[in-house]
Amino acid sequence: MDIRDTAAVVTGGGSGIGRAMAEALAARGGCVVVADLDAAGGQAVADAILGSGGRAVFHRCDVRHTEDVANAIAAAVEHYGRLDIVCNNAGVGGEDLFGDDDAGWKRTVDINFTAMIEGTRIAVREMRRRGTPGVVVNTASMGGLVPMPGSPVYAATKAGIIHFTRSLAGLAEECGVRVNAICPTYTDTPLVRDVEGDRIEELKAQVGGILAPEDVAAGLIELIEDDTRAGAVMRVTVRGGRDFAR
Ligand SMILES: NC(=O)c1ccc[n+]([C@@H]2O[C@H](COP(=O)([O-])OP(=O)(O)OC[C@H]3O[C@@H](n4cnc5c(N)ncnc54)[C@H](O)[C@@H]3O)[C@@H](O)[C@H]2O)c1
Repeated sequence: MDIRDTAAVVTGGGSGIGRAMAEALAARGGCVVVADLDAAGGQAVADAILGSGGRAVFHRCDVRHTEDVANAIAAAVEHYGRLDIVCNNAGVGGEDLFGDDDAGWKRTVDINFTAMIEGTRIAVREMRRRGTPGVVVNTASMGGLVPMPGSPVYAATKAGIIHFTRSLAGLAEECGVRVNAICPTYTDTPLVRDVEGDRIEELKAQVGGILAPEDVAAGLIELIEDDTRAGAVMRVTVRGGRDFAR
């Protein structure tokens, strides 16, 4: 897909990887709905894109609510008259599974798994209804491909999203919507700094360093532009660059 003049929705677009994705799409001439729970962060990203001559609008959205997700996707049509790309990217870091917070792991599941299914479902339904080709990219993680002893629920949500995405490969032939996933290793964002804190140096040594959010955004652009990719699971790592998991 040629990104110029497309309309895209990026959830979690107000920070980190989502911010880099929104900026990369806008830099290629795409129109972006920056959807985020954090109004200050999301508005700042939309303003920065507008300030550099791009097209973007902020839309407040809590991906845990179906109506919010549907409204964020509808905002692309309202503002730009079309819907081409949906990046289900909003996510939260690891949980304290055996701690006192009984609800923490469920929040991880709600945001990292259930909301990505919901975002995919609503996007595909709308693209199908419009009869136009589309691309959905779900932000998974290398933690969905290899075990994460410190964050088992996080790892499970990401593994689930990978399998969900692979299972939708046939939609490309059926209705022209390609659903792909992207799996970064540790990336320099507030999420990883909050969750890993002092462990970050140790983790960097394990995986060979830390990615920049722009490295992940470059993977997103490749997944959108390569029309052969459907149900694909792209890995983005410091050691291996970009490649695809089988
Ligand atoms: N940073 C990493 O090392 C890393 C590695 C692999 C995968 N990921 C994944 O990348 C995605 C983005 O993470 P990031 O590192 O950029 O984190 P981040 O904290 O920088 O950004 C996450 C964004 O999601 C938003 N968000 C959180 N809950 C939301 C909700 N309920 N509704 C709407 N927006 C919500 C936050 O406000 C924030 O703007 C996540 O899915 C994460 O699991 C991150």
